[in-house]
Amino acid sequence: MPVRYALVGTGSRASMYLGALAGAHRADGELVAIGDTNPGRVAVHTRRLEAAGLAAPESFDPADLHETVRRLGIDRVIVTTPDRFHADYVVAALRAGADAVVEKPLTTDEDGVRRIAEAVEATGREVLVTFNYRYAPRNSALKRAISGGEIGDVTSVHFEWVLDTAHGADYFRRWHRQKENSGGLLVHKSSHHFDLVNWWISGVPTRVFASGALRFYGAENLGDRGPRPPRGTSEQGRADEFSLDLAANEDYRELYLENEGFDGYRRDQDVFDAGITIEDNLALVVDYAVNRASSPGVATMSYALNAHSPWEGYVVNVNGTKGRAELTVVERGAVIPDGAVDPSMNPELVAANETRPVSEKLVVQRHFEAAREVEIPVGEGGHGGGDALLLRDVFQGPTADPLGRTASWRDGVRSVVVGIAGNRSLETGQAVRTSDLALGPAESTLSALARA
Ligand SMILES: NC(=O)c1ccc[n+]([C@@H]2O[C@H](COP(=O)([O-])OP(=O)(O)OC[C@H]3O[C@@H](n4cnc5c(N)ncnc54)[C@H](O)[C@@H]3O)[C@@H](O)[C@H]2O)c1
Repeated sequence: MPVRYALVGTGSRASMYLGALAGAHRADGELVAIGDTNPGRVAVHTRRLEAAGLAAPESFDPADLHETVRRLGIDRVIVTTPDRFHADYVVAALRAGADAVVEKPLTTDEDGVRRIAEAVEATGREVLVTFNYRYAPRNSALKRAISGGEIGDVTSVHFEWVLDTAHGADYFRRWHRQKENSGGLLVHKSSHHFDLVNWWISGVPTRVFASGALRFYGAENLGDRGPRPPRGTSEQGRADEFSLDLAANEDYRELYLENEGFDGYRRDQDVFDAGITIEDNLALVVDYAVNRASSPGVATMSYALNAHSPWEGYVVNVNGTKGRAELTVVERGAVIPDGAVDPSMNPELVAANETRPVSEKLVVQRHFEAAREVEIPVGEGGHGGGDALLLRDVFQGPTADPLGRTASWRDGVRSVVVGIAGNRSLETGQAVRTSDLALGPAESTLSALARA
């Protein structure tokens, strides 16, 4: 019997899962029902599924998820709603007798972690968090380098992630820009990065100090970039660098512009609006308990996130007792206005609509030896081949993986607690111990992980 799926939250990200169930993973599961508070977006995805040759799934009201799971005998629920609702739907799925597959972040706050942990404890059901970054070949290569012992025991990590004025700005146009929806970038975006660090160094975060603010987007930072052009217009005959033209992108037009009448959700709000409550510049110091083969240890991370950089990518430097590993990734070299192709992009990759990075370099250097560049295998498709590997794990079940890439809800917890503690640190100006967070049954899970 094929696994019976329901999906809740039929926006952009849902396309990856729906496309998999209509394509490469058609034989691995049956899409039985889809639900969203916006019936227009459900209709768009239903048309696309039918065009791909699938029978139309039943459309359900997300408020009835529990009843839908019971009535239709759903085995697994995929949750791709805005972050603030993840906990509601994961809990509803588990308590109705299904397993859950949830996008990152697991949830946005302590209450969400506690409710998910209680539901897992009460039902014994599974929650899979889809941390696709682990599967990107460059990130897997760093994991391999660290776990192979070449740089010894990890003592500290320096990690900087920069989002450019196209991708970074996008978090300031829609629901993410309200902290209650997304937990801010420390939860919404950085949970990817914090998961990578936990996984790379086998660490459990124990203490977080954060500092940051909104310093570029938002009405208070408009400076000489105003006045802002009205929606859908061009400024002096050319595109505005910070405006998004939904009509110009077929997917955005169909999914969002044409369905605004149902719920008023505007995908292209101005990034210099008043009332944005998330930060765009963030710096953290995080302490970790590290599980080492020899003996338990401690490591420290310095982390920075910037959301208005001229280029996009990241730099991770890992220091160990025997040397150091450095991973440098440029995902986009420049944002060039007026739709011109980024001159630093490889034209073949642009033609193939590839999301492979412009450049990536992993260097490992042991003390008293020359540096060695580590070859990074090239994969096909989104996130350097990572998405295809992730989808295989999601729909066919994890294979024996020496890198341990499949993430459980416990991994979701230990990544999201950094952002949750970071948010409290931003509010109080104090360092916050993750053991001081009110996480219900997840507290013992965190401390067990720290001791393991
Ligand atoms: N792993 C990744 O690389 C990655 C990339 C993009 C998005 N995501 C995650 O996927 C999720 C969805 O992001 P998106 O970009 O598709 O957002 P989106 O806004 O495009 O889609 C969200 C959908 O949820 C619907 N929705 C809103 N409130 C709802 C509610 N209460 N109940 C049910 N449905 C509701 C909206 O109508 C919309 O169709 C987020 O959690 C995000 O973090 C992950």
